[in-house]
Amino acid sequence: MPGLKSIALNGLVGMSVVSAIAVQKPIYHPDLDVDVPYPPYPDVNLLPLVETEALQDKITGNKLLRRAKHLFNIAKRSEAEYGRPTRVIGSVGHASTIAYIYASLQSFKHYYKISSQPFNAVNGKVYESRLVLDNDVAESASPMGLTPPTKDKQPVYGNLIAVANNGCDAEDYPKEVSGNIAFIKRGDCAFSTKSELAGKAGAVAAVVYNYESGPVAGTLGTPVPNHIATFGLSGSDAQKYLEQLADGETIPATAYIDSVVDIVETLNVIAQTRGGDQDNCVMLGGHSDSVEAGPGINDDGSGTLSLIEVAVALTNFKVNNCVRFAWWSAEEEGLLGSDHYIDTLSAEENKKIRLFMDYDMLASPNFAYQVYDARDNVNPVGSQALRDLYVDWYTEHGLNYTFIPFDGRSDYDGFIRHGIPAGGIATGAEGIKTASEADAFGGEAGVPYDVCYHSLCDNIQNVNVTAWEINTKLVAHSVAKYAVSFEGFPERTLNNNINLAVDNKNSYEKTTKHHGSKLFI
Ligand SMILES: *[C@@H]1O[C@H](CO)[C@@H](O)[C@H](O)[C@H]1NC(C)=O
Ligand SMILES: *[C@@H]1O[C@H](CO)[C@@H](O)[C@H](O)[C@H]1NC(C)=O
Ligand SMILES: [Zn+2]
Repeated sequence: MPGLKSIALNGLVGMSVVSAIAVQKPIYHPDLDVDVPYPPYPDVNLLPLVETEALQDKITGNKLLRRAKHLFNIAKRSEAEYGRPTRVIGSVGHASTIAYIYASLQSFKHYYKISSQPFNAVNGKVYESRLVLDNDVAESASPMGLTPPTKDKQPVYGNLIAVANNGCDAEDYPKEVSGNIAFIKRGDCAFSTKSELAGKAGAVAAVVYNYESGPVAGTLGTPVPNHIATFGLSGSDAQKYLEQLADGETIPATAYIDSVVDIVETLNVIAQTRGGDQDNCVMLGGHSDSVEAGPGINDDGSGTLSLIEVAVALTNFKVNNCVRFAWWSAEEEGLLGSDHYIDTLSAEENKKIRLFMDYDMLASPNFAYQVYDARDNVNPVGSQALRDLYVDWYTEHGLNYTFIPFDGRSDYDGFIRHGIPAGGIATGAEGIKTASEADAFGGEAGVPYDVCYHSLCDNIQNVNVTAWEINTKLVAHSVAKYAVSFEGFPERTLNNNINLAVDNKNSYEKTTKHHGSKLFI
């Protein structure tokens, strides 16, 4: 299997590298940059200015569905290696997805500057795990994402030792933790910090139990040297052990995790209009990767393909402001591509992004029209105006919508944390549709919005084309609106959070416990 880079490059063979247009400061890796269109090419300035209805008219469900079928075939290329269709990072299915994005934009090199941004993504796999507490298998125990294995990938034994407070300080770890299994309450600091401190205190494994009754589906995030094998445990399972420990009883425990954490080279793809004010950009993104479990046609094949359709449709028009499309990689490993992008952006480049719009899962089979409830009192100023653009559009089209928490579960998270106004729409993941939502949107109450979320059946049957077409028209509207004008939209400062009252300034950071699909705190 050729490496990712060479596959992406294959689509670009034969491209001239003479520069006809002033090259921007190279904020992306230069290797794959497509700088020079082949003349003769249409003069973008002769095109009509983009108009929202005209752009929306170019979007059809059939075109989206045709692309979805193609994307499923792309996912099938991974079958030889993974035994199932998938577009997980590092797979040929993902590399081919990136090549497909490039190929779809090939004819529009005169219109877009297309570039790539390679980076190293950490990828964790847990093959087997078990936690036994006082001779009972802890059913709710789940290994944290990116957890290292237990020593030699063998079971380790010790007593369960309660850690003081929330285990966020080295002093919270009594010396009996050494050689034993640390029992730590969730809260206040990242799971990563707890695992690291437990490791430094000499624990052979760590268990983070929930302060709520439910389980903890968490991730340790970027590996650090002292991380140890770490489980999440539900609050209800933890209760009896906490009582026993409070009574001074000894609880023998066995922890076992067989896992690997490795590095996969992957890349983001960025396409930016050559036309329009290059210092004032509207940016939008979806993620090009899927989970390993399945082909990811709704998550986020839908957003990926909506972006392609809108990018292609836009080439019929001229823009006043620059439009920048992003296809992020390694979202499923914890928003790694968008994090990398935003972390490596200079302050000057940061300010050119007037807002970021996130499009992740636009076609869930049992959909709701969900709008992220972004607000100017907790998010960078401008986020709420974007939220209202979606609300107004659904309302004007006689459609119902619902607000959902803006809680860090997708690629907007890094933008918000870096002071850039953001928002987006979605159609629902593993959550259950309520009876009133079934009245508002159709579909089935008591059933997940997407029954195939993060699983093998996220295939071409797993999209509602009606919802997908409607949402893609809304994506088109959001692009057209800001491509024409930012009038009335707040100016960027280096950090639009600066406008917030001091108490609110970090409230997003204080209250947001997700980073991608998993909890990190
Ligand atoms: C909007 O929701 C109401 C119930 O809340 C329902 O009666 C109506 O049919 C819905 N509209 C559409 C277009 O589905
Ligand atoms: C998609 O949603 C629409 C509106 O709720 C519904 O009429 C249609 O049957 C759905 N399509 C599929 C394939 O489920
Ligand atoms: Zn997603």
